[in-house]
Amino acid sequence: MEMRRTDLRIAEIIKSLSVANQVESRIQREVQVVSAPGRVNLIGEHVDYNDGIVLPMAIDRGVLVGSARREDDQITAVSLDLNTESQFVTTNRYGAESGGPSWGAFLAASVRAAIRLGADVPGLDLALTSTLPMGAGLSSSAALTVALILSLCSASGIEPDPRELALAAQAAEIEAVGVPVGNMDQLASTLGVEGHALRIDCRDLSVTPIAIPDSLAVLVLHSGISRVLESSAYAERRASCEEVSARLGYKSLRDASADEVADNPYARHVVSEIARVDSFITALINNDLAGVGSILSAGHASLRDDFDVSLPAIDTLVELLVKHGAIGARLTGAGFGGCVVALTPIAEVREIAKAATDEYEHLTDNKAQAFAVHASAGAHRVQ
Ligand code: GLA
Repeated sequence: MEMRRTDLRIAEIIKSLSVANQVESRIQREVQVVSAPGRVNLIGEHVDYNDGIVLPMAIDRGVLVGSARREDDQITAVSLDLNTESQFVTTNRYGAESGGPSWGAFLAASVRAAIRLGADVPGLDLALTSTLPMGAGLSSSAALTVALILSLCSASGIEPDPRELALAAQAAEIEAVGVPVGNMDQLASTLGVEGHALRIDCRDLSVTPIAIPDSLAVLVLHSGISRVLESSAYAERRASCEEVSARLGYKSLRDASADEVADNPYARHVVSEIARVDSFITALINNDLAGVGSILSAGHASLRDDFDVSLPAIDTLVELLVKHGAIGARLTGAGFGGCVVALTPIAEVREIAKAATDEYEHLTDNKAQAFAVHASAGAHRVQ
């Protein structure tokens, strides 16, 4: 996570937790802090739940969770970003929520997940803060859930294996939100490697770090359009993929060939996208920038035309980025709004971002927010 921002936020967490409200003597408490990054996916969209291959990277923005022991067995949490009394939730150690804001469901599900991982969760006060835009397609939910479960495990004296932590966070997110998400976001958040994207095989969970060349910048642009109808459309796309693979007699679309799915647009996207991931990696390793760009464009076209999760304004933003000098660009994340990712020569990242966002605003009346991200390490204890 970005240094200055992170240091300030850790200090804020410690300040909020070090003196317990409930303890009359106002003894200083020991505060543990963990950090879990969000992710941006370079390519391999909507393939994780089809046992496919993905190429996300953990980014230098994420969620920090601090914890301090309480004398009773309650678990409380406060969001330092939202910063009001109403953002305070209480959950007992079995994860039964007693009211609070909507993110209380994530806390309750995370407590249950930590217990399933073997944590004997003590009474705790938690404080949360995030440097990720919420609901933008950068996995703020995965970062929140991974950070919460890691914090609860760490306070209980156990250190979960990163893959087990990721799968526990995936289950907790499904429980909390009811959307049948895949495992990519959580694996990226727990297994991130500084300076590298991760080739993740979502079937056997093997991970190969792929270096991002120093000459390239990874630019994320929030389209300014909040994601709409995402949960029902996501579940519907997933069900439709599973139906096609069942009809073909496969466990997942990972086993299907392009010919077998030629007449089904959703499945066609999945099968072609899985193939694009390794071609993209080869092009990146060979410094074949034209290849990188055309694979990103083909990935976007497939999300737009076959999987039908893009929006006209997002298509415009992708086109403008390439017009103004990006090597390639595509919609990233679940779609239906949210973010675009672009690769640019590092020296030109600012000009490209400015030219594309200015023209985007002019053409669509949406204001895009652009920021360069760096590939970062996975979730860990920072204090
Ligand atoms: C969301 C889900 C992931 C993945 C992407 C699309 O981010 O949480 O599991 O399916 O959408 O690639």
